[in-house]
Amino acid sequence: MMRKVELANTKEKISIIGQGTWGISRFFKDQAYYDQWKESLRIGIELGMTHIDTAEVYGWGKAEKIVGQVIKEYDRDELFITSKILPIHFRRKTMKKAAKKSLKRLDIDHFDLYLIHWPNPLLSLEKQMGVMEDLVREGKTRYIGVSNFSVERFKKAQALLKNEELINNQLNASIIQQKHIFKSLPHYQDKNITMTAYSPLGHEGLTDLSGDLKQKLENIGRKYDATIQQIAIAWLINHQNVITIPKAFQTKHVRANAEAASIYLTKEEIQIFYKKSVDLELENVSEGISE
Ligand SMILES: NC(=O)c1ccc[n+]([C@@H]2O[C@H](COP(=O)([O-])OP(=O)(O)OC[C@H]3O[C@@H](n4cnc5c(N)ncnc54)[C@H](OP(=O)(O)O)[C@@H]3O)[C@@H](O)[C@H]2O)c1
Repeated sequence: MMRKVELANTKEKISIIGQGTWGISRFFKDQAYYDQWKESLRIGIELGMTHIDTAEVYGWGKAEKIVGQVIKEYDRDELFITSKILPIHFRRKTMKKAAKKSLKRLDIDHFDLYLIHWPNPLLSLEKQMGVMEDLVREGKTRYIGVSNFSVERFKKAQALLKNEELINNQLNASIIQQKHIFKSLPHYQDKNITMTAYSPLGHEGLTDLSGDLKQKLENIGRKYDATIQQIAIAWLINHQNVITIPKAFQTKHVRANAEAASIYLTKEEIQIFYKKSVDLELENVSEGISE
């Protein structure tokens, strides 16, 4: 059974590992390619990775379309669909239109979570937050959040909201990209906001690791009978308030990612990867039998 955790203060549970969709391309691909993508997403859903992350920019709408075709086969209430708005909209109206188009491609009437993909310099943060609140009020999204926001910007955005709370910041975080583990996560843990770690496998699948890091991952992998990628994913989600969304086209990767949810590392095993000394809340670490 896939591990689920509470999403910020919502009292709602979300799969701790979901599925990324950056990479679903719209160019020069045949039907077999899209069929394979759909099959991977289906297997992921059936293994409990029911949080699906997409964005209007992925494959210029194609990713949302493919996700939309797959999720129709399932009970909508069992799924958690996140999408993101590009920072190219410079009017409230075009933001709203973009949300509407994303929903249409996904063929759903509401997102579970809608995020501002990157800070948008073209429209005031106040107006952007106003649109996000409108979208909640209009029933177009259940929750709102941001992505690639610094803690400072996140706080500013939150302060501009009148009725809603930002429940999520989606950030680049992994065993090789630890900046946000040090700089951002302590704040989100403190406020009980969920941080989604994107590119949990460094975007390339951690294929070019070498030296000490690879060695450590392999050693721990041996103990849990797991690959280095599974250990890297387990490392992230054993931090409190962190969920993640690896992207996998290959079904063997989808299965491996789902299995990573059952790996509970010890506190020591988590800490040996830190590039800086840090005191973070850890979640569900194994019963502390360190070796
Ligand atoms: N908010 C943002 O600005 C932002 C930015 C980047 C990403 N994201 C989101 O985060 C998701 C994940 O990040 P990402 O796509 O950059 O990359 P990622 O998940 O870090 O890595 C994907 C790569 O890892 C491989 N892989 C997946 N599972 C594996 C496993 N168990 N063992 C070995 N290799 C494995 C994949 O191979 P195959 O595909 O061949 O199976 C692919 O090459 C995105 O798809 C997107 O939804 C958001």
